[in-house]
Amino acid sequence: MVSTTAEPPIDPNRPSSARIYDVFLGGTHNFASDRAVAARTAELLPQTPMIARHNRAFLRRAVRFATARGVDQFLDIGSGIPTEQNVHQVAPEARVVYVDIDPTAVIYARHLLGDDPRLVVVHGDVREPAPVLDDPAVRGLLDLSRPLGILMVAVLHFVPDSPVLTEALRIYREAAVPGSVLAISHVSASAQPTELDRVADLYNRTGASLVPRDREQMERLFEGWTLVDPGVVFGPSWRPDPGEEVDDPAQFLTLAGVAVR
Ligand SMILES: C[S@@+](CC[C@H](N)C(=O)[O-])C[C@H]1O[C@@H](n2cnc3c(N)ncnc32)[C@H](O)[C@@H]1O
Repeated sequence: MVSTTAEPPIDPNRPSSARIYDVFLGGTHNFASDRAVAARTAELLPQTPMIARHNRAFLRRAVRFATARGVDQFLDIGSGIPTEQNVHQVAPEARVVYVDIDPTAVIYARHLLGDDPRLVVVHGDVREPAPVLDDPAVRGLLDLSRPLGILMVAVLHFVPDSPVLTEALRIYREAAVPGSVLAISHVSASAQPTELDRVADLYNRTGASLVPRDREQMERLFEGWTLVDPGVVFGPSWRPDPGEEVDDPAQFLTLAGVAVR
């Protein structure tokens, strides 16, 4: 199903966070400008590709948590390029709306997902819920009178605190009936500040400001929701599958949590 939102043109010379992330995941949907930023980031933080993979693993576990509670529709905001183990693959019966601000992510997603009637791809901004929730294709797919899984995985660290963000989070919360699930993962401000500052500088120059948050700031993003155990923890420690446990979860620099309404 095709959303009515149009995508702005792609600029291959301007690195994009969606495509840089694709580089870290070993994907092929990226350009030289993205690979240059990814290489520099990996010099500063050699564990970055591993962080990306663990982040996707958190996404997978969070989706499974939601489906086990009966959630069968998802709004994945900041969805990136939906390759390896994305929501519709983890929950093949579910209806999924993928939303991203990056035109490349939207174009690749539409191309990769084809015309599957259970999937909609929208060009949108997490700070502006109304155009997404009011999009006719989204309204046609999601039934907001039923529980919804809202995923904001590795996206809110590109969005500084502001009344606009607070209001956006309120609108998503109000749109989610009891039984809904919210999953967030986020670059942590609590580890390796020097290297992270340098990576933040790198991203800032690409036009995507990186805003690490600490655990308390991250918990505030869940306002109005009830965090489930173990609360906000480093990503690999959020209900790891057997074999996914790691010795030093803090080195993964990503905090993660899941909450319910
Ligand atoms: C690191 S990727 C995460 C992809 C996917 N959620 C995952 O965790 O595997 C971050 C994505 O957020 C998108 N993004 C950044 N700022 C955004 C915003 N304000 N609204 C929507 N998407 C945004 C980027 O374009 C990128 O695709």
